[in-house]
Amino acid sequence: MKPFQLPEDFLFGTATASVQIEGGDRNNNWYRFCEEGKTQDGSHCMVAADHWNRYEEDIHLMTELNQDTYRMSLEWSRIEPERGRFDEASLEHYREEITSLLAKNIRPLVTLHHFSNPIWFEDMGGWGNQDAVVWFDSYTRKVVSSLGDLVEDWVTINEPNVYMEGTYSSGNFPPNKPNFFNFFKGAKHMIGAHIRAYNAIHEIRKEKNHPGETKVGVAHHLRVFDTDEQRSGSKWAAGMMSHVFHDIFLEGMTYGKFLFPLGNGNYPYGKGTYCDFMGINYYSRDIVQYSWNPLRLFGELTVKEGAEMNDLGWEIYPEGLYRVCKSCYEKYPFPIYITENGICDSKDKQRGKFIYDHLKVIKQLIDDGVPVERYYHWSLIDNFEWELGLEPKFGIIEVDYDTQKRTIRESGQFYGDVSRSGGVTEEMLEKYPFLEAEHASES
Ligand code: GCO
Repeated sequence: MKPFQLPEDFLFGTATASVQIEGGDRNNNWYRFCEEGKTQDGSHCMVAADHWNRYEEDIHLMTELNQDTYRMSLEWSRIEPERGRFDEASLEHYREEITSLLAKNIRPLVTLHHFSNPIWFEDMGGWGNQDAVVWFDSYTRKVVSSLGDLVEDWVTINEPNVYMEGTYSSGNFPPNKPNFFNFFKGAKHMIGAHIRAYNAIHEIRKEKNHPGETKVGVAHHLRVFDTDEQRSGSKWAAGMMSHVFHDIFLEGMTYGKFLFPLGNGNYPYGKGTYCDFMGINYYSRDIVQYSWNPLRLFGELTVKEGAEMNDLGWEIYPEGLYRVCKSCYEKYPFPIYITENGICDSKDKQRGKFIYDHLKVIKQLIDDGVPVERYYHWSLIDNFEWELGLEPKFGIIEVDYDTQKRTIRESGQFYGDVSRSGGVTEEMLEKYPFLEAEHASES
């Protein structure tokens, strides 16, 4: 292990999402999913980390960890509990939370849609209904009219690919009705919703002369799809997987181009540039093997033989961050924010080195001319991991869900030191055992 420094103006932060941490909302589709007892561990998002009531405490923890920025999402179902009826108290609550962040010099990056839908939206067909584009536009315009004076940086949609895969391919997400054709219909509507939201955010902030430079993007979940040469058809399957999981969303949400099978290279919402930064959520790599199952897009995902894995069996593959950022930048030359990167590690045995290794990759990317400007570690606190429930632990801060007590993990202390120093110093290599052992072996 060696010390390294990131640029002076590089921003360190963490990411969360409303349903996963807030607790208290009964109007979203994940609340109903939990009520139906569908989480793998039987847990419920109803309380989660009770962040709705504890955001001041959590912001204080961010200052203890010297955070520059914080990525949060707004809960649409709180803001619009019924179609066309907006709840001013919820908007005021988010206004107070964002004001508290700004008062501590923590720059908010606000996500409008992070996997959760209002129940009324879901019951009208959700993203499979073409009216979703209009409904999301109306929600976006209300939010930006209310909070646009405080927020310059926006993510319209988190991981459209993972959302579509979970909702219409695997069916692990509510309403648990896989539908191959809705995967592509939903993709078209989500691309349209993003384009209209991009335009609305810029238009409203400009019209109202709000301060600062408006930055809008998407948080794309990018993976490395490598192949297992033992099985014929793997290369084709990996190519197909990357096209459907990456390219149709990247091309649609960046330039408005509808690639096959969404379209024939046409621009239904107009040709343009619809992002100011490229948000990249990176976690791991898959080894793709050909499969006969069209619902799984003809690709079976496996893990590299003998690879180091996290608690969920995902390969730990820092090099993949370099690969996805480099190839993304070559095709979409925009500043990059790592809008998520993290590890499920309940014992906190791997997380410190995971953070070191991935930040070291970012240092290499910047040295090689790829403008990575921010890093949001997933996640600030332990939270509700969707269909898996509360069991998986992604936080640099542990949450005791019985008492809601927060405890900063050793990896969190390390990340706080990194943020304070702008990189990893010699002292830190000595201070943290998970680095010291490797350091000693290299000296
Ligand atoms: C995602 C989501 C997060 C997850 C995190 C760990 O990438 O699936 O953005 O909500 O909790 O990635 O899986």
